This record gives sequence, structure tokens and C-alpha cells, in this order.
Amino acid sequence: MITGRFPNLRLRRNRKTDWSRRLVEENNLTSNDFVLPIFLIDGKNKKQSIKSMPDVYRYSLDKLGYIIDKAIKDKLPMVALFPYTQKTKKDLLGSEALNENNLVCKALRLIKKKYKNQIGVMCDVALDPYTSHGHDGLIKSNYVLNDETTEILVKQSLLQAQMGCDVLAPSDMMDGRIGEIRKSLDKNGFKMTQILSYAVKYASYFYGPFRDAVGSKNLLKGDKKNYQMDFNNKDEALREVALDIKEGADMVMVKPGLPYLDIISLIKENFKIPVMAYQVSGEYSLLSNGIKNGHVDKSIILESLISFKRAGANAIISYYADRLDNILK
Ligand code: PBG
Repeated sequence: MITGRFPNLRLRRNRKTDWSRRLVEENNLTSNDFVLPIFLIDGKNKKQSIKSMPDVYRYSLDKLGYIIDKAIKDKLPMVALFPYTQKTKKDLLGSEALNENNLVCKALRLIKKKYKNQIGVMCDVALDPYTSHGHDGLIKSNYVLNDETTEILVKQSLLQAQMGCDVLAPSDMMDGRIGEIRKSLDKNGFKMTQILSYAVKYASYFYGPFRDAVGSKNLLKGDKKNYQMDFNNKDEALREVALDIKEGADMVMVKPGLPYLDIISLIKENFKIPVMAYQVSGEYSLLSNGIKNGHVDKSIILESLISFKRAGANAIISYYADRLDNILK
């Protein structure tokens, strides 16, 4: 209940000093609140910059150790792997997704062998890094097929689980895939592999730089509106999450982040389930380039990250997660 009346009550009293502001602070961030996305690329000794994402790089597998060491030292609970796939390895069916020697599988084996459970590893389940058309599933007359795609996603999930993936993150938005993936994991001895469903993923223009980072940008024609959510909608987000929880999701994601804080808070209030916010590539680009050009102060990073926490997110997937020492200090 909010009670009181001016001049007895002056809200500015609690704001007067730094120590008092810290005392009444409602939300804060620690490294436990972050997941670091890592872009992988074939080759040796590579640290390749991504034009639209200042200070974010694609790394070859031999560089992975440094990043994971730092992530563990920084006490990040989890990293997320994303592959840049050479054009020659892409085809209509995204076959490379099922190659046990693809970049993600190799990275999983490497990380899990060396670091065991010191850090969690999350992998996208979707075909877009591997298809020649850049869509997340199989296409027929410009339509992404649901059930046929799910069959492949189930195989991709099982393969990633076998390679050591801790958290499978289906980011494809096919209907019913969480249930099918859960069923196959359980049947094959992976009862404890977690599923983080990208339950509420909007067909967003904020993913542009990511598509550049994984090499699908120039291949993708049109948009992903026949499978990802319409950004005019809100009720639909509740239905997506309700279904995914029934099908066995352990956690759900809302994506993008900043333009969808209302959705994070809605989901958190309605379902008492861990909610992850993805501060996506376009958000990262806008903030970073604004800072780089001197138009805004770098404190906007912390301010935007805190907003996810305030909205109710349990954790944030952020390209800033490797620089928290500067951001949170
Ligand atoms: C692919 C996927 C996308 C992102 C994460 N997984 C892009 C898309 O759906 O087109 C976007 C992440 C970002 O923009 O940072 N399924």
C-alpha cells in the first residue's frame, strides 16, 4: 500500500546521499545474472571482428580456452555457442546441424572435457546457421514447414545433448517442438538435460547484426513472420509460454529484450518460472555505437541491463557479459 502525504512525506529524503540510495535499492546485478554468447568460426588463431557489433568477435576453437577461463573467473554461470558456418557447408536441409563434427559439437566436447561442470553451456536448437536460405527450418513454397522441421530439431537436440550440452535452447519457434525434444531426450538417457525455450521470440528487426555474425544475413530473403511472433501481440505470448511449460520447458526466454520489457514482466507475473531476457544484437549495436559516437554516456549499458532485472528477468543473455568488471563496478 502507498500511503503518506507531503510535507510529512518527502520521497527525496531517501535519495539524499549515496549510502541511503544504496540502502533502499530494490534491484541490482551480479555476474550470476549473465550469459555470454560466443560466436565460433572455423580455422586457427582467429579473432575476427563483426562490423555491426563493436568489440564482439568470432573465435576459432583454439581461442575458446581463454574466453571460457575468463568467463569462469568472472563467475558467469553459462555461455551460449553460436556458429558462423561457411557457405559451402550450408544446404536446403541444414544438414550440417546434424554433423557431429560441426563447430558447435566440437566446441561442446572441448569445453565439457576441460571444464566439466564449472560452467554451463547452452546451444541454440534451430537450423538457420546451416540452411542455404537462412531460415530456421525446411521450406516449401516460402513457408517454413513445422512438423518436418521439428523432426530434424529433435535429432539436433539429441546430438548436442550427447556432445555435452547442458541447456538446449530451441530458438526456432516451431509448434510442439519442446514436447518432442523432451520426449526424445528422456527416451535416450538425457532426463536431466535442461531446456530453455525461446518461447516468446518476436519476428524482430533487432536481429540484423546477429545474422551478419553467423553469416546468414545475405542469404535470408523476406522475413520470419510465419513462425516468429507478431510484435503487435501480447496475449499470444502467454499462450506460447503456457504451452512450452506443459511440454517440459525448464526456463523460458523473451526476445528481444529492451522493447519487450512489458512481456518479461507479464510472463513473470503469470508463470513462476525462470525467465531469461535476450539483449539482442541490434540492441547491443545501438547502445555501443551511440556510446562510440559520443552521443550517450556509457552508463546507458548498466541502466538498460538493470531494466531487465526490474522487469522480472532471472538472467540476461548479453554481448556485454565479458566486460562486466567495467559495467557493474
Ligand atoms: C536463430 C537466432 C537468432 C538469434 C538467436 N538465435 C536470429 C534469428 O532468429 O533470426 C538472434 C540473436 C541476436 O540478434 O542477438 N534462431
